[in-house]
Amino acid sequence: MSPPPTMLAPRLPVIGWSTFAGAAHIDQHSLLDHPRHLSTTSGRAAILLALECLRVGPGDLVLLPTYHCPTMVSPVKTLGADAAFYPIDEHGAPRLDWLSAHVPASTKALLVPHYFGLPQPMEAVRAWCDARGIALIEDCAHAMFGRAGARPIGSWGDVAIASLTKFFPTPEGGILALNRAGLTMPALTPASRIDQVKAGSDILHMGAAHDRLTGLNRLIRGAFALKSALRRLVKGPSTGTQAAPSRHGELDEAEEIDANMALIDLPLSHRALTHASGWISRRVPRRRIVEARRHHYAFFTEAFSRRDGVHPLLPALPPDCAPYVFPLWVRTPDPGYAEMRRLGVPVSRWDRLWPGVPGLPGDAGKSWSHHVLQLACHQDLSESDLHRIVEQVERLFITPAAAAPR
Ligand SMILES: Cc1ncc(COP(=O)(O)O)c(C=O)c1O
Repeated sequence: MSPPPTMLAPRLPVIGWSTFAGAAHIDQHSLLDHPRHLSTTSGRAAILLALECLRVGPGDLVLLPTYHCPTMVSPVKTLGADAAFYPIDEHGAPRLDWLSAHVPASTKALLVPHYFGLPQPMEAVRAWCDARGIALIEDCAHAMFGRAGARPIGSWGDVAIASLTKFFPTPEGGILALNRAGLTMPALTPASRIDQVKAGSDILHMGAAHDRLTGLNRLIRGAFALKSALRRLVKGPSTGTQAAPSRHGELDEAEEIDANMALIDLPLSHRALTHASGWISRRVPRRRIVEARRHHYAFFTEAFSRRDGVHPLLPALPPDCAPYVFPLWVRTPDPGYAEMRRLGVPVSRWDRLWPGVPGLPGDAGKSWSHHVLQLACHQDLSESDLHRIVEQVERLFITPAAAAPR
């Protein structure tokens, strides 16, 4: 059998002419319209700033879910605070019964994510925190748009954070939003002129590397190739050619995990977002982003329902949200997952948990970290990208003999 062709669909949005298509207005709320928010360089920087606003430091404990990306933990460690882990239920909500029985006295904050962009029931979480004087950090890194129950997304936490690169074609960016009165918005240092130019050129380079800027692709790629060649000439041959700038989530997997486990870059976390990334996140029409993601999520739900070996983890997409990724539960994810990564399929898995995450009763988190693949479903995937992702899942995880008719 000949090997399948290499597929290089982007794992995160990339700029193209279609970025500017469609209506600007949508009915969904966005953290970008939050009345008290600040643009940061990343979601992890926003978590760090949130913890600083809440005066979390050495001796304090922050509760985090067992199912996590290390970037949710490293800001806590960077500030010298302790992290402890709580179990989640089969929808990703915190197990409040377990928390009530086990919450340590030194707990200063509870971080709750809206996994995959699907809103969690926050009313009970808010009440739980209020009853104990514990601050709530609402992690909207996956949930830029929509509502969680009766309130707009991002308005339940004492503070909320978001990540721009997951929804917009920017090389960097996050949001910190403050809901509790009395918290002071941090002052950030301005981005340097070099940072400003680099952000603008990275945005164009990403688009051209993925062939999205018809008419300009060759020109832009040529300009970057020339720049790399000149740099090699000046600095020596060890300076490699970069196909396109890498964002978190797009690096080689081992590199990405190491970067995520490292302590946070403090100066970068206290730096303001560049104009180019801010402009993109504020100006690009939003309707296409929300509609395409919802359409892609529904497509995958249909494609992976009634199959043997895989199933949609959360098939019901609530009406008022825009998903970040499509969570696919896979019975035997290894070695197929490594093969998907090797082929450039836009997929990730949170399989490297922070050291010391305990096995807890009734916890879905540890099982998710092994069995759940996060398939990209963003607005810049084409129909053929979606079909090729489905083909790879079928080839690697669905046994033909057992595949049920669609
Ligand atoms: C739930 C969650 N919170 C926070 C972050 C950090 O966001 P960023 O990558 O923008 O630093 C991530 C990143 O993957 C995440 O998945």
